[in-house]
Amino acid sequence: MGLKNAIKRVSVPAPAKINLFLAVTGKRHDGFHELVSVLAKLDLADLVTIDRVSEENHLSCKCVGADQLDGIHNLAEEAVLLWRKRTGIKDGLHLTIEKKIPVEAGLGGGSSDAVATLLALNAMMESPLKQNDLIDLSAQVGSDCPSFLIPGLCVAEGRGERVRSVAAPMNKHMKGKSVLLFKPPLGFSTAAIFQALGQSEKFSISSEVVQKLSNWESQNLATDKFLANDLELPVFEKHIYIPALFLEIEESFSLIPRLSGSGSCCFCLGNDRVPWSKVENVIRKAWGEETFLTRTHIV
Ligand code: C5P
Repeated sequence: MGLKNAIKRVSVPAPAKINLFLAVTGKRHDGFHELVSVLAKLDLADLVTIDRVSEENHLSCKCVGADQLDGIHNLAEEAVLLWRKRTGIKDGLHLTIEKKIPVEAGLGGGSSDAVATLLALNAMMESPLKQNDLIDLSAQVGSDCPSFLIPGLCVAEGRGERVRSVAAPMNKHMKGKSVLLFKPPLGFSTAAIFQALGQSEKFSISSEVVQKLSNWESQNLATDKFLANDLELPVFEKHIYIPALFLEIEESFSLIPRLSGSGSCCFCLGNDRVPWSKVENVIRKAWGEETFLTRTHIV
């Protein structure tokens, strides 16, 4: 019996991401937006386990720690269906996703779960798909997905499907940095945030974005000055308690808070000398005890 039939269970961690940089440079004919983004993966992660079951074509999924996702056709299941179509391999599967990453947070949890599922499947079935096929397939699941297939910090362009690693010295410099995540007790819909930005048509200028990214990657621009997110514009207009708290954090601690992706999770970058418990107290005082607060690191 080959490996393909022998392996019954594979578990793969699915890391969260933050967008250190997200510039929207225009609207495309397919309704999506053209963007340039730098994504960093975190040591906050879900865990995806796939179990082979005897019934061919079977597919079921249980999310542990996020009851609201039960019974909803999720991105991990969609990834399995696309993988089956591409490879013709129809082994029955049960997925278990242990959720640690909050949903509707801009932390890429659903996309990362889908990519971890593809990696687990590919490992279980003796790697029928190579890296480029996986990037291509994952882009059909979600715009964020391909970035999770790139180790370390990733630059994503186009709709999010054109991915590459950040220049090696900068990648090394950022690895291990402390990140405080803080999310108000509500989530945002990515589609609605992009739509609101699209209506205002306040897009970044491509040549300026390319220059800024190049300056940062060559270490001629400090990370504090590089951090940016065009999606803050529509979010801040509607949720004014976010910029109000950002201002307080900036003035009290000289930190630069940012929204991750389309939110609602926000983050501050720092190091182990930052008095994180004091920052956390300020956040809890503003947004209440139900605020999701986690200290994590870039991996
Ligand atoms: O690709 P994904 O399904 O994650 O995107 C969710 C929604 O976000 C899309 O339906 C689209 O409205 C919006 N989006 C966009 N431009 C992108 C990525 C996402 O307009 N580059």
